[in-house]
Amino acid sequence: MLNRGITGIAYETVQDGEGRLPLLAPMSEVAGRMSVQVAMRFLETDYGGRGVLLSGVPGVPPADVVILGCGIVGFNAAKIAVGLGAHVTMLDINHNRLKYIDDVLHGNVITVYSNPVTVQRAVSYADVVIGAVLLAGARAPVLVTEKMVSQMKPGSVIIDVSVDQGGSVETTRPTTHAEPVYKLHNVIHYGVPNIPAAVPRTSTYALTNAVLPYIRTMASKGLRKAAEEDSALALGINLAQGVLTNEAVAAAFGMGWKSWQDMA
Ligand SMILES: NC(=O)c1ccc[n+]([C@@H]2O[C@H](COP(=O)([O-])OP(=O)(O)OC[C@H]3O[C@@H](n4cnc5c(N)ncnc54)[C@H](O)[C@@H]3O)[C@@H](O)[C@H]2O)c1
Repeated sequence: MLNRGITGIAYETVQDGEGRLPLLAPMSEVAGRMSVQVAMRFLETDYGGRGVLLSGVPGVPPADVVILGCGIVGFNAAKIAVGLGAHVTMLDINHNRLKYIDDVLHGNVITVYSNPVTVQRAVSYADVVIGAVLLAGARAPVLVTEKMVSQMKPGSVIIDVSVDQGGSVETTRPTTHAEPVYKLHNVIHYGVPNIPAAVPRTSTYALTNAVLPYIRTMASKGLRKAAEEDSALALGINLAQGVLTNEAVAAAFGMGWKSWQDMA
């Protein structure tokens, strides 16, 4: 791309003033919602699960869903799990996120400040654990140790959505859509790193909806003016005119770089 002088804009570095990644958010929404759909399937005995209906029925309690991380994935997972009638516990270290979740989900989930003790307690009674944590620019923190997994209920399900960032569960490894799960300590592990690919129609429309406004602006104003007026878009430019313009990418490849703004 450098040799050909291509201008490259990376979805994952388009970042707004509040640190949000608007072109990654749609995929987190899809993955969060899918995670519950997937967990529901693998709780069935035919798939090796503990044979629990997420919603329960009158007289029989619902499944316990524990969600680690109250970000976009976690929130979207919670909406679906709550909608299906599960008993949902969410953990995070960001108090504002816990407060937000408590407000918007009207007390339909239990929010807990995340630390090793609270994680251990929640995981021990979970039928489903959804790993949805992220540390910007770093590997996901491992919150669930192998020992905690070995103490989980037989046939329970772990959906480690964070697997693309290294995973938040010590025993998860990346899997594929063709072979999405494996069992360890009698717990089903799902570690597909590209969950939205299972629902490409929804995912493509969702992504396109987010990208199209940027395309429109660039088409009507040209890249330079569009990026000058939108710092999020400017941060997305990784290469231009045969030069790397993203410091982190340049460092990763041991190459030189130049700020895009400094180029003619
Ligand atoms: N597998 C897939 O197909 C797929 C798709 C989309 C996103 N993801 C991954 O899902 C993860 C979550 O993405 P997101 O968009 O929701 O991120 P986000 O930044 O919106 O949310 C992450 C949350 O994790 C919380 N967190 C950080 N450390 C924590 C800790 N120790 N305990 C509890 N919470 C903690 C943060 O406070 C934040 O609220 C990322 O790793 C992302 O790469 C995977």
